[in-house]
Amino acid sequence: MGGSVGASLRSRPCDLSLAHASRLLAWFDRERRDLPWRRARDPYRIWVSEVMLQQTQVATVIPYYGRFVGAFPTVRALARAPLDEVLRCWAGLGYYSRARNLHRAARVVVAEHGGRLPETFAALRALPGLGDYTAGAIASIAFDERVPCVDGNAVRVLARVACLTGDVHAGRARQRLMRLAHTAVPPERPGDYNQALMELGALICRPLDPACNACCLGDLCEARRRGKQQSVPLPRRRPPTQTVRVAAGIVWRRGRLLLAQRPLEGRWGGLWEFPNAELPPEGTAAATLTRLLAEAFGLRAEVGEKVGALVHGIMHRRIELTAYECRAVSGRTQAGTHAAAKWVRPEELGEHALPAPHRKLARRLQSRGD
Ligand code: ADE
Repeated sequence: MGGSVGASLRSRPCDLSLAHASRLLAWFDRERRDLPWRRARDPYRIWVSEVMLQQTQVATVIPYYGRFVGAFPTVRALARAPLDEVLRCWAGLGYYSRARNLHRAARVVVAEHGGRLPETFAALRALPGLGDYTAGAIASIAFDERVPCVDGNAVRVLARVACLTGDVHAGRARQRLMRLAHTAVPPERPGDYNQALMELGALICRPLDPACNACCLGDLCEARRRGKQQSVPLPRRRPPTQTVRVAAGIVWRRGRLLLAQRPLEGRWGGLWEFPNAELPPEGTAAATLTRLLAEAFGLRAEVGEKVGALVHGIMHRRIELTAYECRAVSGRTQAGTHAAAKWVRPEELGEHALPAPHRKLARRLQSRGD
């Protein structure tokens, strides 16, 4: 994938300066990070890495990526695996719909494409769960198609270079940005170009402290020329953080703990958790858990001591989770609105895909020696 952008670029009509792609590619050739998914040009591995990298930092992704492609080295292996196993490999990485969609799409690739990922943006985009970003990343990086893939880092670089002062996350400014992103991709090495743009955003064109002096696009950057690199792009408008108080029951019966599997659709879909409920403003944990265990799980239970508390942030929610030891006294276990419920020995907790806060609770229980 060496070489640089040829003369064809110079005659190409483009909203960005003609030099920017050559500069980016030369910078990428010197500075690219040695990342595990860059070592081979396997479309499946590129796919897995790009899905994991959405909303997640490179350093967090690396160990998960290694474990995932170790467990499922091919599309066929992923398609054959039960969803539970896939979710277990993903547990802790968050945004679990990504894992469910990856698994579902792998099955479609096997059923309809003979186990090989399709090679065009349009065919990739038609797979379940693949949006413009993922289809663009695979089509450009694995198959050299001249299409953009625009993550948050690329948005920032493009917005600054062209000095787009509107809200590039919505409306007309977004449309302008996307037009720019399309025309800016060079015909040669489109995948490297896309990665260079994202890499520059991650390493140099940072949100709060852009290292303009070290930037290969420094003298081509309109925001910098106008001294606006701190204020462009406008930050995304986020809803205010909402605090939710949740009580979880660590429910024991004959040396086993109650786990419930969330329904497949929705947040944490398919993952296992300790029974829990949001506390009403005036409600006590004891009353809330007693009622939850009776109504949803068919159990009469005694609620005992507080055994843990933690705070977990997800999207715009701050979850304050407090766990209480409970003892199931009688009743026939049912799953209620969950997909399933079961009793497990403490040492079996690690075999289940638990969302991060429940995994933290489970670890605390295990380190206590339960
Ligand atoms: N962010 C997401 N995917 C990336 C890639 N392939 N290269 C650099 N940064 C990325």
